Amino acid sequence: MSYEARPGMRVEELDTPALIVDLDILERNISQMADFFAERRAALRPHIKTHKTPAIAHMQLKAGAIGITCAKVGEAEIIAEAGIRDILIANQVVGQVKIDRLTDLARHADVMVAVDDARNVTDLSQAASAKGVIVRTLIEIDIGMNRCGVPAGEPALELARCVASSPGLRLAGLMGYEGHLVLVSDYEERRREVWAALKPLTDTADLLRRHGLSVDIVSGGGTGTYDITGSCPTMTEVQAGSYVFMDTTYRAVRPEFDVSLALLTTVISRPQPAYIVTDAGLKALSKEFGLPKLANIPGADVRYLSEEHGVIDLAEPGAVDLRPGDKVSLVPSHCCTTVNLHDKLYAVRKDIVEGIWPIAARGKCQ
Ligand SMILES: Cc1ncc(COP(=O)(O)O)c(C=O)c1O
Repeated sequence: MSYEARPGMRVEELDTPALIVDLDILERNISQMADFFAERRAALRPHIKTHKTPAIAHMQLKAGAIGITCAKVGEAEIIAEAGIRDILIANQVVGQVKIDRLTDLARHADVMVAVDDARNVTDLSQAASAKGVIVRTLIEIDIGMNRCGVPAGEPALELARCVASSPGLRLAGLMGYEGHLVLVSDYEERRREVWAALKPLTDTADLLRRHGLSVDIVSGGGTGTYDITGSCPTMTEVQAGSYVFMDTTYRAVRPEFDVSLALLTTVISRPQPAYIVTDAGLKALSKEFGLPKLANIPGADVRYLSEEHGVIDLAEPGAVDLRPGDKVSLVPSHCCTTVNLHDKLYAVRKDIVEGIWPIAARGKCQ
């Protein structure tokens, strides 16, 4: 007898905790985002840190995405192995081992990387030219997030000149990520602040061009800002990721995308009528953005997660007929970090499992 899940099974038959994606909603989210970019100057280069699943990356490309964004070399290796060529690592790749992996990858894929440091540029250039490969390079500018990036203006120009004169590297343009603004709750305020944050990026692109440097690509943006950043004439691509799955946090600022992701759990105990305990805790669900929510039990609230238990209070115990063995779905507060905890994604349509997809890039944080 096989314990393996297989297509054709009903969702309730799956062993738990099981990460489920509703295919109808996933497809709708992908095509809705693709439609937005269909008629724009800016294109979509979706970030796969959300799903880490080659099957979904291929769906995004088929819908019109121009390439893929990754956070790590390890993710880029998985995506290249899945036959995808145009890959941005929207991050600094630092240290000899990673630079060796990046330049090896450049033999099979058209990789692009962000830089914000002259010594890193030298290291990348030496490795790329020794192997006879070209690595496209974006100068990352800090547009207010206070994470990575050089300041806009002269420092960016100086680094861009350094890249332009480095063998093995090709200056492809600029990157600026407005991650500090993606969850601003008032839309008008978000729009105003994003436009203000993008202004130094635009000015720097102009500055580089005035000095004869090519700026073919200006990349940035996320799910919370895709339409704002994607309408800015400077931007050539947007790196939105979470829109495919959504979660309780992003849903608050992006109601136009539905939540396609849920974690199916089993009730393992109901020690008292007022609460149930499920088989999914912190090792199956992240909670840095808050506790998950119950999908369809009104008034029920997750009280806490321990490593392997979820304790859920029931507002009306008498009205809820749940006992050990019953299944309960939870909606994560942060899809990206929850997905990273799982090996498989069960792709479901109308309660029937249609596909079982390896989350091939999970855990690829190197
Ligand atoms: C560099 C970069 N680009 C884009 C994104 C956008 O992702 P999301 O659509 O999930 O907000 C992120 C999110 O972490 C990011 O770090």
